[in-house]
Amino acid sequence: MFKNGFPLFRVVLALLSPFISLKSFAQDAVSLAQVYKDYFLIGAAVTPQSLKTDEAGLILSQFNSLTAENAMKMGPIHPKENEYQWAGGDSIAAFAQRHGLKMRGHTLCWHNQVAPWMFKTETGDTVTKEILMQRLKDHITTVVSRYKDQVYAWDVVNEVISDSPGEFYRPSIWYRICGEEFITKAFEWAHAADPDALLFYNDYNETHPVKREKIFQLVKTLKEAGVPIHGVGLQGHWSIYEPTAEVLEQTLDRFSQLGLQVQVTELDISVYAKGQGRREPWPKDSLSVFTPQMESLQIERYKICFDLFRKYRHTLNSVTFWNISDRRSWLDNFPVRGRKDYPLLFDKDLKPKKAFWPVADFQKQGG
Ligand code: GLA
Repeated sequence: MFKNGFPLFRVVLALLSPFISLKSFAQDAVSLAQVYKDYFLIGAAVTPQSLKTDEAGLILSQFNSLTAENAMKMGPIHPKENEYQWAGGDSIAAFAQRHGLKMRGHTLCWHNQVAPWMFKTETGDTVTKEILMQRLKDHITTVVSRYKDQVYAWDVVNEVISDSPGEFYRPSIWYRICGEEFITKAFEWAHAADPDALLFYNDYNETHPVKREKIFQLVKTLKEAGVPIHGVGLQGHWSIYEPTAEVLEQTLDRFSQLGLQVQVTELDISVYAKGQGRREPWPKDSLSVFTPQMESLQIERYKICFDLFRKYRHTLNSVTFWNISDRRSWLDNFPVRGRKDYPLLFDKDLKPKKAFWPVADFQKQGG
């Protein structure tokens, strides 16, 4: 103790403080977008609101590509037959343009987050294939044309492959009404509206061998039929337990055989094992703890992923995180209601987590 009870550690802290702040400045100054500039784009899924908070600063320092988390999906952007809601998509596109960031469009056709009117007649009956195809064409043409100058790549069709091993297509309402034809047509209409846009098929569970093969076959068939498709989007909703390096390498290797672009479109590494769909919390669930064990498994999994992403950089040209930081993730309430997740590389205060460093510092590690 010093005079007046001034503790020694405070003096030491005061003497060290210039170095401490320098160190944290140096850490903040490491930018993923910068260190990966010769490899692939580094993206984030954002909301219009997030661009008005301190997260905007983090985006500008760490990312060079944006995806609208929800604002450009069918339901939010086209809630009624004769009504488009452009404000959200426009504000994200304007932010991207103002700051020289790339923008991915997400998503033109999906069975979720689509307004009910799409499938109903005025009298409430289910629409015919002819009407639904015309509505899809109008939707795609209008949305793609609007963002022609801002969006360089679109997720045209999202998640049409079934998770059931014995079934090829998901029996969605699109499929039940239109058969498989809507898939091909969606790509053709998107291409007609913007011939310069890169068009992707996007799906999840892409590392699971059976589903992976079905996605591969779908994209290969489209390509061979001359459909304007330029790439496959691997969503990358993974966990601290999977995929293993071996499975991820098999996945990247398989998709690179398509001879198309590969993008990781929705990366997050949940600290929980992947479950089987939405559920209420169980008594044994811990709802908000980021344990040291979760942390170390996450560090390891992120390192495995980025080591392999760099290895496949010749086909992989963009890696987008699904959200910005652990402050908010769609996984906070899904699949377990009310359970907090910590799937990203930045913490709630927007500081790099420990998992950030092996991803960002690979040059120093000689990797
Ligand atoms: C899918 C969709 C995304 C998003 C995530 C979860 O992966 O493609 O748009 O909705 O689910 O948020």
